[in-house]
Amino acid sequence: MMARKKTPALPLVSTLNMLEAAAEVADLSQQIKKHDLLYHQKDNPEISDAAYDALRRRLEEIETAFPDLATEDSPTRKVGAKPAAGFTKVKHTVPMLSLGNAFSEEDVTDFYERVQRFLSTQDIIDIIAEPKIDGLSCSLRFENRQLVQAATRGDGAEGEDVTQNVMTIAGIPHTLPSDAPNILEVRGEIYIDRHDFAALNVQQEKDGGKTFANPRNAAAGSIRQLDSTITAKRPLKFFGYALGEVSEDIADTQDGVRKKLGKWGFAVPIPTALCKSPQDMMQFHETVYGDRPDIPYDLDGIVYKVNDIALQKRLGFVSRAPRWAVAHKFPAEQAETVINDIIIQVGRTGTLTPVAELEPVNVGGVMVSRATLHNEDEVNRKDVRKGDHVIIQRAGDVIPQVVKSLPDKRKKGAKAFIFPETCPECGSAAVREEDEAATRCTGGLICPAQAVERLKHFVSRLAFDIEGLGDKIIRQFFADKIVTAPADIFRLAAHAETLKTQEGWGELSVKNLLDAIEARRTIALDRFIYALGIRQVGQATAKRLAQNYLNIDTLATQMRDAKTHDDEAVQELLAIEDIGPAVANDITAFFAAPHNQNVLADLLKEVTVEPYIPPDTSGSKVAGKTVVFTGKLVTMSRDEAKAQAESHGAKVAGSVSKKTDYVVVGEDAGSKLKKANDLGVTVLTEEEWHDLII
Ligand code: IVH
Repeated sequence: MMARKKTPALPLVSTLNMLEAAAEVADLSQQIKKHDLLYHQKDNPEISDAAYDALRRRLEEIETAFPDLATEDSPTRKVGAKPAAGFTKVKHTVPMLSLGNAFSEEDVTDFYERVQRFLSTQDIIDIIAEPKIDGLSCSLRFENRQLVQAATRGDGAEGEDVTQNVMTIAGIPHTLPSDAPNILEVRGEIYIDRHDFAALNVQQEKDGGKTFANPRNAAAGSIRQLDSTITAKRPLKFFGYALGEVSEDIADTQDGVRKKLGKWGFAVPIPTALCKSPQDMMQFHETVYGDRPDIPYDLDGIVYKVNDIALQKRLGFVSRAPRWAVAHKFPAEQAETVINDIIIQVGRTGTLTPVAELEPVNVGGVMVSRATLHNEDEVNRKDVRKGDHVIIQRAGDVIPQVVKSLPDKRKKGAKAFIFPETCPECGSAAVREEDEAATRCTGGLICPAQAVERLKHFVSRLAFDIEGLGDKIIRQFFADKIVTAPADIFRLAAHAETLKTQEGWGELSVKNLLDAIEARRTIALDRFIYALGIRQVGQATAKRLAQNYLNIDTLATQMRDAKTHDDEAVQELLAIEDIGPAVANDITAFFAAPHNQNVLADLLKEVTVEPYIPPDTSGSKVAGKTVVFTGKLVTMSRDEAKAQAESHGAKVAGSVSKKTDYVVVGEDAGSKLKKANDLGVTVLTEEEWHDLII
């Protein structure tokens, strides 16, 4: 850990006089030059990149305010230090999680009981409730009590560096008092008050600028400005509600964290309550829901968090959400409108989705012109017809839905919607498997709609994240046969000259696109798997596959083996959490298809897939070992035992085999214990297991 050094608070640049500014410029220039030397020539940096960036930013700020002090040889003039456009990426040292959702009293009770069950207790669990702010999340990193970096959430593992812009937000402290730890990441929400939002739109209109649909969009648009002087003019605010990396704990409870953050100058979400039961939680939810008109900012629900930080640590997280918190959403916003048409969209896996094209309507601050009708059964069940008056709803960021049609307002002669039997895009037969709600186009590779959707998915934010390759451009490239498979994207440079001459394109836009593509030639394994667009393989499953197979070659080979003959390969796949026979089949079928093998091989010529590096569990005696828990565990629940084993680098299996290293037995263990003894597998009591992992 870095030595604890107290750094005095920096005065605002606007309060400096010429002499003070000159002294600071000299000092900063010297420091930056020293760190440049240490970093570039000695390969031995003494400070973090973020702390270094903070020094440069301060110098730039002073040089802008006092141009006479900006010398020719200032380190800020050095080229190549700062990207010309776009935001640099920031890897989160602690992932930025999302939250699971609750919609009903039953869900809230479920959450509470789940927590008790995991902790294997009937005790009352204290829960802190607070509003869920509808803005965009941001992580503020303080090193030695100075704000050195601000990053957006991105995909949770990696976000964008928006430090310069966040520095302009008035309510965010730039320095922390001496009782704050050396390293502290404060996570929270950047948002705009409803009142400020209305004023902002009036001003935008006056200036001939773009108006925003709602405060959330306005906040997001303001943070993603490349020019921070524009951000500075936007009425942004920040609420702190969680911590990321910390060099030492700042409190024992969530409430304590709130109080500390408050003391250090952060706003924290209010109102808040300490709840001791699901009834308390429901009561708070209802009260705040009713009070919404008096609360000056948009909320979309209540977040409940286990108060005791030690319990939070035991609970940990599953997939991308903590077990110790949940978002209880407010009821969805609804509105009435008319259906102008019902069209069929063909998705990346060939699913035909009926979509209602609507007379545009404002639903809770967002203009909605399309809503999903899900599938054939839903259209029939709701009896939705072209020309119908309908109620639609949207909740959070989910796709708007048609709730019901209003048959009393139906025009005479309106015909029921007939679900097509062929794909509207390629004419192939559309079929519905028994027991499935979805109707699928059987065109596979010849269906242009599926190909385009696959490419769109491939470049999307959580996959390759290539900025500038939107829906329209992909369609155009596909129609022009410039990009028909993913690898073609990485060969676009060969078409640069042709592109530049096309309508809507110029030297700069082509360069920006090619730069964005170049920047993505290296990709993490889980993103790569997700990008392949395998049916039923979302972000969470992709991550599990990455953690299990570690690199793309092993994954591809094992999956091919699993499809053809190798029982062990199938068993290994099925042993992964949340992968059942249907998902396993989709995965193995994908890798076994010759076409996909060619696409993959071609793609791997163009991109580098970084292997998954498991967390450092070198101090752990059980890393890489396979363990089976059996019988009734006494000291903890089965789920906690499993989570704990995994955090020490062990794999948890459901059945005993030759590959099992340990079987941990609780009370009344049965056949698994017998099998372990038969196979000569090491059997441990709960206590022995605890001793092993300490
Ligand atoms: S706690 C590890 N508290 O909601 C848990 N999140 O839907 C960290 N959000 O990504 C989140 N208000 O951006 C928490 N009071 C609040 C919140 C809040 C808004 C956002 C946050 C999160 C998203 C999940």
